[in-house]
Amino acid sequence: MQYQSGFANHFESEAVAGSLPQGQNSPKKPLQGLYPEQLSGSAFTVDRSKNLRSWLYRIRPSVVHQPYESYEHQTWNSLVAHSEETNPQQLRWKPLPEPKKNLDFIDGVFTMAATQEKPGVAVHHYLCNQGMGKKFFYNADGELILIPSQGALQIQTEMGVLEIEPQEIAVIPRGIKFQINPKQAGWCRGYLGENTGAPLTLPSLGPLGANALANPRDFLYPVADYHEGQGDYQVVVKFSHSFWQMPLKHHPLDVVAWHGNYAPYKYDLRKFNTMGTVSYDHPDPSIYTVLTSPSFSPGVANLDFVIFPPRWLVGENTFRPPYYHRNIMSEYMGLIHGVYDAKQEGFVPGGASLHNCMSAHGPDAETFAKAIENSESPQKIEDTMAFMFETCHIYHPTHLALSSSALDRDYWGCWQNLKSYFNKG
Ligand SMILES: [Fe+2]
Repeated sequence: MQYQSGFANHFESEAVAGSLPQGQNSPKKPLQGLYPEQLSGSAFTVDRSKNLRSWLYRIRPSVVHQPYESYEHQTWNSLVAHSEETNPQQLRWKPLPEPKKNLDFIDGVFTMAATQEKPGVAVHHYLCNQGMGKKFFYNADGELILIPSQGALQIQTEMGVLEIEPQEIAVIPRGIKFQINPKQAGWCRGYLGENTGAPLTLPSLGPLGANALANPRDFLYPVADYHEGQGDYQVVVKFSHSFWQMPLKHHPLDVVAWHGNYAPYKYDLRKFNTMGTVSYDHPDPSIYTVLTSPSFSPGVANLDFVIFPPRWLVGENTFRPPYYHRNIMSEYMGLIHGVYDAKQEGFVPGGASLHNCMSAHGPDAETFAKAIENSESPQKIEDTMAFMFETCHIYHPTHLALSSSALDRDYWGCWQNLKSYFNKG
């Protein structure tokens, strides 16, 4: 696979030599007969540091399609109409089981929770066991962050191809047309975040300095790769939280060359430069932020994408698992790989937990009992990768998620054996 690197760089790529105009975006007579088309990911007038746009040079402009028709999606519901079911209870789900019917990536999206605030966040899980064929997709409501936990995916986009496997992620910005197919035979499972707020960006590093956390050069972008097919194609569209489809007679991924800073990208979570204490106590988990979508309040995230990667624990006289806490931010967690250090069992790859605003949580009783007896020696947490979607809004679980057989109705029980150690001395 060939990629270009650097977070939000201004890239240029051409699949046919000489197809990318030089010195201007929109020449009077297009090069090689290609139509120039601009795709804006920000208002034209936002600050230059936040301005996102790409120029696409394509065989036909995107406007060549038949009228939009409605499309039925049974399980993708970012409006959470059943919010009356939301309560502060801590929730946990087992992984969704292997699908019993043929399911492509789009139809396999299953919404677990969403914020009612728009812009906000929706969290989905996905299952798929077949490719999308002549079906494609774009999301006008927000950008998508893909987090596979089982099975590698090939992502064909207007800008080219990305491939990801578990412990890698991909982000597909709003409006970009794509198709996702399992890379190998078998079925795939993972998580899908839908961010309808400001586009994800790298967090500020503050006193950490110029190098830490996710390094910009580890973000990889595709190179131009086009298709010339004729036939009955379909682009499914999510627009204003409902679904549509537009039929067309040519392959929708027909971009021969492009340039700009608005494009899909991938990142290998194993490259994260993890920070932590070298003296005592834990820093807050914001230290593990990979990408952030800022809200209108400085320092408050509409969405933080946070990971818990392999790392050394060396804090002296320190309770080393995550501390007990109640936060104003709401937390949706998933496990991509291995074991999570705050839970001995019940939280497995493909599963999830939801701890909403001010609902208490922390290690289970068994983890606590072990941790207070642990030796002071440095300890490495290996073979693990958990993540969290943290938002300043409330997550409303969907009716489907609350009525799913994957819901762990005994989750509350994992804390009930936390006994009193109180001793007046
Ligand atoms: Fe938490």
